[in-house]
Amino acid sequence: MKFQQTLAVVASFLTASVYGADNSSAHSPVDSIRHQYNAGRNLTIGWIVFNGYAPLDIWGPLSIVSALSSRYNMTLVAIHKEKGALVNNINPYTRPGGSVENYPYMLRTPSILATHTPEDAPPLDLLMVPGGSNYLTPSSDNEWIEAFVRSRYASTDYVASVCSGAVSLARAGIMDGKRATTNKWAWADLVKLGPKVEWVPNARWVADDGGKLWTSSGVAAGMDMMYALMSYLYGAEKVDLTMNAIELSPHTDSAWDPYAVVHKVPGANVSRSLFDLVGPAGYAPPTAA
Ligand SMILES: *[C@@H]1O[C@H](CO)[C@@H](O)[C@H](O)[C@H]1NC(C)=O
Ligand SMILES: *[C@@H]1O[C@H](CO)[C@@H](O)[C@H](O)[C@H]1NC(C)=O
Ligand SMILES: *[C@@H]1O[C@H](CO)[C@@H](O)[C@H](O)[C@H]1NC(C)=O
Ligand SMILES: *[C@@H]1O[C@H](CO)[C@@H](O)[C@H](O)[C@H]1NC(C)=O
Repeated sequence: MKFQQTLAVVASFLTASVYGADNSSAHSPVDSIRHQYNAGRNLTIGWIVFNGYAPLDIWGPLSIVSALSSRYNMTLVAIHKEKGALVNNINPYTRPGGSVENYPYMLRTPSILATHTPEDAPPLDLLMVPGGSNYLTPSSDNEWIEAFVRSRYASTDYVASVCSGAVSLARAGIMDGKRATTNKWAWADLVKLGPKVEWVPNARWVADDGGKLWTSSGVAAGMDMMYALMSYLYGAEKVDLTMNAIELSPHTDSAWDPYAVVHKVPGANVSRSLFDLVGPAGYAPPTAA
């Protein structure tokens, strides 16, 4: 839980002899210690859940950690203000501009069971905050998320959001002055809800605060972030086995962000190709002839 802080102290005493400790000369001593530490512990993951969550924001990254948990001990708790079943039922909501959005015929997905409340959630090592329509509902509906993030940020090693989940982190106040990203389609609506955040327009995901704070762009980008985050925890060569088992080719360049261009995000760098050659994790792309 306090691993990140401890690591920062330990790092200053390390020597190069630690290189290769987890059989990869590509890792720095600090990386190797982090990988060994996480491989040896029972990683407690808290997942925030609420009505109106975007399905892939949860199930995409969760599929990666679920597969990884066949090799590393992990514990998962689903946290809501009340225990019980939730559906991804998008209730009518008012956009910041005043227009009311209502999708009465939108699919409802199977329930998620909230196992814990903010009051009885155990100490966490990783806290995941998904996005969805909730950021547009009255802030009072989400204050429990913001309060929970605020109260747990210091004691949790890693805190990550997918898509508009970044708004809850911003409103919690833990991203003031920090670099972060969020959904590019809804960029204009979202970033104004975090005026003190240094929003990065061209980013599939952003890691800041010494590797503690992770935020991804919209929905599917959460899986690319999760690959990067799990690689940070366990080492890419270990996570690659899992990615290839679930047959997902992750984008590995955090600055690759065609959706910043598609959605005309102010400040987006448009000079880079929108296309990114991806392949199985761990395999280098063919070099240009
Ligand atoms: C260490 O890495 C090398 C090269 O990837 C591999 O051949 C070897 O089997 C690995 N050893 C262990 C103990 O994992
Ligand atoms: C991990 O921790 C949870 C919660 O304390 C516990 O239920 C579970 O058995 C632990 N797993 C292992 C493999 O120790
Ligand atoms: C997971 O926990 C079990 C029970 O404590 C332990 O035997 C096993 O070695 C652990 N697995 C890893 C990968 O550390
Ligand atoms: C924009 O992207 C191009 C291509 O990747 C890069 O060469 C250039 O430095 C970037 N410009 C800025 C201002 O980041």
